[in-house]
Amino acid sequence: MDLSVLADPEAVGEHAASIVVAALAAKPALVLGVATGATPLPVYRRLARARRSGTDFSRLSVVALDEYIGLRAGHPASFAAYVRREVAGPLGVPAERLVVPEGRGERLEEQIRAAGGVDLQLLGIGRNGHLAFNEPGSPLDSRTRVVSLSQTTRSDNARSFGSEAVPTHAVTQGLSTILEARHLVLLATGSAKAAAVAAALTGPVTPDCPASVVQMHARVTVLVDEAAAAVDRDGAVGR
Ligand code: F6R
Repeated sequence: MDLSVLADPEAVGEHAASIVVAALAAKPALVLGVATGATPLPVYRRLARARRSGTDFSRLSVVALDEYIGLRAGHPASFAAYVRREVAGPLGVPAERLVVPEGRGERLEEQIRAAGGVDLQLLGIGRNGHLAFNEPGSPLDSRTRVVSLSQTTRSDNARSFGSEAVPTHAVTQGLSTILEARHLVLLATGSAKAAAVAAALTGPVTPDCPASVVQMHARVTVLVDEAAAAVDRDGAVGR
């Protein structure tokens, strides 16, 4: 595992974007797995800037990790809308090279295989150690499926829903699906993530902390800012 502690979220974004750009230079038809949420936004902003400066994204494919269940098509808080707004639109990825889980995710794994597998997977981490929407208790060998969201996750994500109720269920790539990506890049910023980061990287590999599965992967890059690296030895991972 290659771990870098960087000054702040912008530095994490800079470093992660440089990894994506280097991967794209090595393989122009890169299949990039994208997380949603606040953490990777600085990465996507930098990638959009790189495209404006001439980096060629024309053969890139993008695969999303997860999606809420029950939102109307085009709902602004849906991950499909996020991926189109923050990634596919700015990078010029056409619909036929964009994969977002639909329905109950029945076709997702087949679509990932058809794309040739994920080359580089950007990942965030939940305060409770979730990875994509694999909540604590998720089997380490889990595949794409429908899950119920924990209270922690629903309240953390309420910011995207205003006065509307946050969905109770989602479809997510499983832990074992995520581990099939060729290179994992885990990003974490802010002190609220410190306990989860410590548990994921230095604790046991356990369903109690789904992100701990990254320890099982041969090629993992972890980019955290100083706040997320500040291990509070007494801090319990929030549930
Ligand atoms: C979403 C996803 C989630 C987020 C996690 C952190 O696609 O995979 O696991 O990465 O909830 O979210 P932020 O970055 O908003 O703190």
